[in-house]
Amino acid sequence: MKYVVGVDLGTSSVKILLVNQHGEVTEEVSKSYPLIRKQTGYSEQDPNEWVEQTIEGLTDLLKKFDGNPEEIEGISFSGQMHGLVLLDDHNKILRNAILWNDTRTTRECQEIYERVGEEQLLDVAKNRALEGFTLPKLLWVKNNEPEIYRQINTFVLPKDYVRYMLTGKLHMEYSDAAGTLLLDVKKKRWSEQVGELLDLDPKIFPPLIDSHDEVGTITGEIAKATGLHPATRVFAGGADNACGAIGSGILEEGKTLASIGTSGVVLSYEASGDKDFNGKVHYFNHSAPDAFYTMGVTLAAGYSLSWFKDVFAKDIDFDQLLAEVNTVPVGSNGLIFTPYIVGERTPHVDANIRASFIGMDASHGIKHFARAVLEGITFSLNESVEIFRENGKRIDTIVSIGGGAKNETWLQMQADIFDATIVKLSSEQGPGMGAAMLAAYGCGWFESLNECAGEFLKEDKVYTPISENVEKYSRLFTIYKEVYHNTSSLNERLMDYRQ
Ligand code: XUL
Repeated sequence: MKYVVGVDLGTSSVKILLVNQHGEVTEEVSKSYPLIRKQTGYSEQDPNEWVEQTIEGLTDLLKKFDGNPEEIEGISFSGQMHGLVLLDDHNKILRNAILWNDTRTTRECQEIYERVGEEQLLDVAKNRALEGFTLPKLLWVKNNEPEIYRQINTFVLPKDYVRYMLTGKLHMEYSDAAGTLLLDVKKKRWSEQVGELLDLDPKIFPPLIDSHDEVGTITGEIAKATGLHPATRVFAGGADNACGAIGSGILEEGKTLASIGTSGVVLSYEASGDKDFNGKVHYFNHSAPDAFYTMGVTLAAGYSLSWFKDVFAKDIDFDQLLAEVNTVPVGSNGLIFTPYIVGERTPHVDANIRASFIGMDASHGIKHFARAVLEGITFSLNESVEIFRENGKRIDTIVSIGGGAKNETWLQMQADIFDATIVKLSSEQGPGMGAAMLAAYGCGWFESLNECAGEFLKEDKVYTPISENVEKYSRLFTIYKEVYHNTSSLNERLMDYRQ
């Protein structure tokens, strides 16, 4: 039997999958690492922890594996996006990585608009300047830590650094580079324009490669430490959302993904880099060759539900919390929730907006609130679906992964709110599977990623929209959308009271 390894370097842990040539996950290991939050809005990690935990995870995986290490032919990566890793001229880390969910850079986003211009930025980088992206973080270091900035030889993204430490070869690949704001997304090269306007030294940009490109093999030292064969081939890998899309078969026009994790994304395949979504949704390079994707992000999707449970239903588990939501009618007896507990990204780029429950009355119990939370998260994702449709995209089938795919009522709710057929996969592994598929394709097991998806991914169940519910939700969605506009100035004024 032949195998590949998919390493998914997430925000809370690294998950490593061993996948055989039929796409079956035969071993799985997960190792966690901490977030460093020095003050409100800051979110950092020590890149050494990623490397140590990845090596430990691979070592554990190899211990569990009863085959010959030579059978493990390739390894590839998926990674949390946007995190800034700064290296000196010996490729040594200069400071902790500043992560995607760090929001200290509002001033730097403004600086980008002032010096580059919003129109030019959208034209080249295809995306707005958001606090989470890499370029504002680089400027923050320039403005606040000049002595570190002076020592920068190059910068990379989280999984690129781990790959470098396993191979000794330093690169960045396109799907992650797209999330820096420094890539000319359509032309697939670093934007000299943006770099010059911001006085960035061209030497700091690492060489760019494709997600399925082979960078070499693991080093002898890593082979010794992990038990992997020294000839194990290493492939670049991709951004977690791009890899989640590959691992869900989002590999041709018309295919869309709804992924509900801590944050939630709706992501749709794009064959062309020529479209103009005016920055309303993210527009990035896919990890599938020469393809793109558009994506809307709800910052607190699964996080809204876990927050609600922690605060109001601490003593029960998720299954108990959701056990009766199917007995509550569509619209939760007139209760609406907007999931803005940490601000929002799509369609409202607004760090100050906060969540609301609207319409509470004495008849509402915990099950009504729980259903309203599920409906609110799904409505928020539907705002992204609506933008895609308004821009001419056909969204009739959506693959659902993550927390939203673990509950029957929520799956049917997605079909009814999105007014689309919802597909649940049988062994859903998300980004780690996408990384493994990039390695399988890179190793030449398949002619294309699509052919690989045909072998590796299987549908489990399909949920079709119920027309009566679609109609009810469509009217409720109109009310939901008004909540943002009616609460934004109230939330601005409440900021004085936030600590
Ligand atoms: C995407 C984003 C997140 C991270 C999470 O723009 O910020 O989805 O990729 O890892």
